[in-house]
Amino acid sequence: MNSPTDNPLDRVLVLEMVRVTEAAAVAASKLIGRGDEKAADAAAVEAMRKAFDTLDIDGTVVIGEGERDEAPMLFIGEKVGGAIGKGPKIDIALDPLEGTTITAKAGPNSLAVLAASAEGCLLNAPDVYMDKLAVGPGYPEGIIDLARTPTENVTAVAEAKGVKPSDIIVCVLDRPRHAELIAELRSIGCGVVLIGDGDVAGVIAVTDEDTTIDMYMGQGGAPEGVLAAAALRCVGGQFNGRLVFRNDDEKARARKWGIEDLDRIYTRDDLVKGDCIFAATGVTSGSLLEGVKYRRGGKMTTESVVMRASSGTVRWIRGEHKI
Ligand code: FBP
Repeated sequence: MNSPTDNPLDRVLVLEMVRVTEAAAVAASKLIGRGDEKAADAAAVEAMRKAFDTLDIDGTVVIGEGERDEAPMLFIGEKVGGAIGKGPKIDIALDPLEGTTITAKAGPNSLAVLAASAEGCLLNAPDVYMDKLAVGPGYPEGIIDLARTPTENVTAVAEAKGVKPSDIIVCVLDRPRHAELIAELRSIGCGVVLIGDGDVAGVIAVTDEDTTIDMYMGQGGAPEGVLAAAALRCVGGQFNGRLVFRNDDEKARARKWGIEDLDRIYTRDDLVKGDCIFAATGVTSGSLLEGVKYRRGGKMTTESVVMRASSGTVRWIRGEHKI
């Protein structure tokens, strides 16, 4: 039995989470460049679902493949783990294949990804869009604010970094809905790194100086926003998110998950509270991770990262597997 003071994540082997993302990534990798997004996603989902059974947890999917009637596996509310009713109660946000189109087209930055926390610590984000704004670690708290304009946010970050706004590099999803944002950023001289898909890696890129990306801006999936916020909670960096609703049905979805204030701006720590684990394995290579690679001699290699908020530990794991 857990005592009330136990951190349930202590009972989870952090490294075991990597087995789960590795399994999903390997399964999806067989479909890289095969032009079939659905098959790649289905393979990752099935493998991730199976891998959870090997973990000694009483897990609940809080962000998953969709609602029960839409997703046969890893739906929101589904119980996962090999110790249901007995093990530590863990909430899980997951995306077995973040970047289905990328995988189908063999583009960069697709991932198998999950975040885990104690019960009730991850926002149950509905599957709607989210306005996202992120900056890496080392800036004063509150330096970014979604209530301000992109120009104001860039100017604040530039001042704090000691550079001109035109020296700031911003990553944005390449979508027609971002035309105005991109035009505004370019009008003040910013460099805009346009990505085709995969904004979990896009947001995390702000934490790594080697990417040269200072900020992330724009609308992407809300579930992906929570996953990225979990990573930033482990390695530092600030995040703002605001849900975007296109119709009443989407608003009803949010209310169903207990979200009352539909205009709220969530900070990183509103989206993910307490201790959390973030794990990801590369499917295709990108700014965060190398993808799954099939080698000579019947081997394949994987690269994963697993982080924990309470300790700040970040582990990079290169796996070698027999095919
Ligand atoms: P999928 O893995 O579901 O294809 O998501 C990829 C992605 O690019 C996310 O990273 C991003 O949050 C979202 O899609 C953006 O949505 P849209 O493609 O509708 O602009």
